[in-house]
Amino acid sequence: MDRIRIRGGNRLSGTLPISGAKNAALPLMAAALLTDKTLTLSNLPYLADITSMSNLLLPLGVSVSVNGNGSARAGRVIELTAARIADTTAPYDLVRKMRASILVLGPLVARCGEAQVSLPGGCAIGTRPVDLHLKGLEHLGAEIELDSGYVRAKAPKGLRGGQVVFPFVSVGATENLLMAACLAKGESQLVNAAREPEIVDLARCLVAMGAKIDGIGTDKLTVQGVDRLGAASHRIVPDRIETGTYAVAAAITGGDIELVDTEIGLIEALGEILDAGGISVTATGRGVRVSCPNGRVRGVDVMTEPFPGFPTDLQAQIMALMATADGAAMITETIFENRFMHVPELMRMGANINVHGASAMVRGAKQLKGAPVMATDLRASVSLVLAGLAAEGETIVNRVYHLDRGYERLEEKLAACGADVERLKSG
Ligand code: UD1
Repeated sequence: MDRIRIRGGNRLSGTLPISGAKNAALPLMAAALLTDKTLTLSNLPYLADITSMSNLLLPLGVSVSVNGNGSARAGRVIELTAARIADTTAPYDLVRKMRASILVLGPLVARCGEAQVSLPGGCAIGTRPVDLHLKGLEHLGAEIELDSGYVRAKAPKGLRGGQVVFPFVSVGATENLLMAACLAKGESQLVNAAREPEIVDLARCLVAMGAKIDGIGTDKLTVQGVDRLGAASHRIVPDRIETGTYAVAAAITGGDIELVDTEIGLIEALGEILDAGGISVTATGRGVRVSCPNGRVRGVDVMTEPFPGFPTDLQAQIMALMATADGAAMITETIFENRFMHVPELMRMGANINVHGASAMVRGAKQLKGAPVMATDLRASVSLVLAGLAAEGETIVNRVYHLDRGYERLEEKLAACGADVERLKSG
């Protein structure tokens, strides 16, 4: 298995391009199941999860063609055409690799009146059930059964509009129900819907395909069902988690980086924390500049929340930063239980962290030290890379496949800004 080696201590500077958002691309690809016409998505990131989603869609009857400027490069274009649905079953072997596979359930049952999707796997962060997806589909008239590890959904006469009130905010359930509601008969309302930028992106694309959606960007989405959706071309929103991760890379190394092809509005909650910690975050014509005028950051408390609050997907990264800060920071995780797996690994690098339930008290250390480390999820892994950039000596991050699920050319992008980072190929 590949590993990443980092020799810490370099101050990062320069320009770093941000890719299209993984978490927008995955539901957008699933949306191709809603129409027999071609959906063209540009700014497609080059990531293992995108390949997993393609592999899931192909046997369902979706033709997938990827082009753009070179197959291994950023900014690719993907064309997805589900002229005919060949199969309505998403099998365990493909679904277990990625939790977002559950996003084919809503579109399949909306278009075909039935779907069988294996219960998903994905990152090992908490139990992560899919009950909200299933209850929501029941409100739209689907009959749901759980059988031998599969969700079996049926709506022989098609879905019908209904009101779905989410008891708490779920990104995936909002996406699944939004897609399903587009082809349901009549009006649907999604109340207490998630309003992450990736949902706004999905809704805009669905509208371009002919869907009728009101309230985009709010927590109440109203959808008038239509008989069919058509072709559309859509540019995927920049990845706010990648943007935030590299903003932290600038901060943790006392550096100065311009993140390009992204927008400051996508990382407002992080910007406020960095600003309070003494890091400058400003909009440029083509993205965001992050610099560290004093070379040090101050400890700031952070609590994760649904958008527009601080994203759980940046919690591990901000913890790495706070582990190097002057003073203490209380970091509270409210979205997922069991999302502190990076803590013991950061502690092996000299971080001073005490976890009490859903909160971690982080007392800044003068200097982190490099160590061999590994993590069990995507964002936890990248927090170790960030800590390695600030640490004295060598850090080896194992299980790089986690990083490859969500960060395109990570080592190349960091090295271009002066990091001493290298992928060590296995075998
Ligand atoms: C998405 C993101 C993920 C991010 C998360 C929260 C994608 C592909 N993944 O995941 O990176 O960390 O949003 O911003 O976009 N829950 C239930 N029942 C359900 C659904 C969710 O109890 O049916 C719980 C989850 O266990 C979790 C919380 O709700 O505690 C929020 O999860 P959700 O917003 O659904 O996350 P995902 O869509 O899986």
